[in-house]
Amino acid sequence: MEPAITIVRGSKEEKYRDLLPQIKALLDGEDDLAAALGNVTAALKLIFQDHSWVGFYFLKNIDRSNSQLILGPFQGKPACTRIKVGQGVCGKSVELKQTIIVPDVSKFPGHIYCDRDTKSEIVVPLLRGNEVLGVIDIDSSRLDAFDEVDRKFLEEIAAQAVSSF
Ligand code: SME
Repeated sequence: MEPAITIVRGSKEEKYRDLLPQIKALLDGEDDLAAALGNVTAALKLIFQDHSWVGFYFLKNIDRSNSQLILGPFQGKPACTRIKVGQGVCGKSVELKQTIIVPDVSKFPGHIYCDRDTKSEIVVPLLRGNEVLGVIDIDSSRLDAFDEVDRKFLEEIAAQAVSSF
């Protein structure tokens, strides 16, 4: 069966409300993590066409004392493949175990540019209890593109994604 995403016009909140059960269906319908999360990035990019990049990074142990974020399924231009914990917005989100909204990336110390057109960004950690499994990272070529509505719904999507790990 082909997964189909319905596109709702309306407010950002209406779009997320319509999208949530569709994302759940994409995740429930596929056991393979890369396949399921690949479709989640495609659905988000399809619904929110202003997003320039939507993707996952997975936190992986490199050796006993070192973990790094490694690029997972995404939609957008080719991106940095590895990010150290504490570095950039993604690494900071892992360190703090919190969502970070950056209205203007040029003002975020240590922001890592994968695409010079990026103006604002949101990073949501994938949390299983207190353990970080990775992040969802979304970039926009508009300043101040992300707000508390994005935080609320993307944290729900992150929780759904974690249940597929
Ligand atoms: N800007 C991110 C790096 C990842 S890319 O945006 C895809 C950061 O500062 O962590």
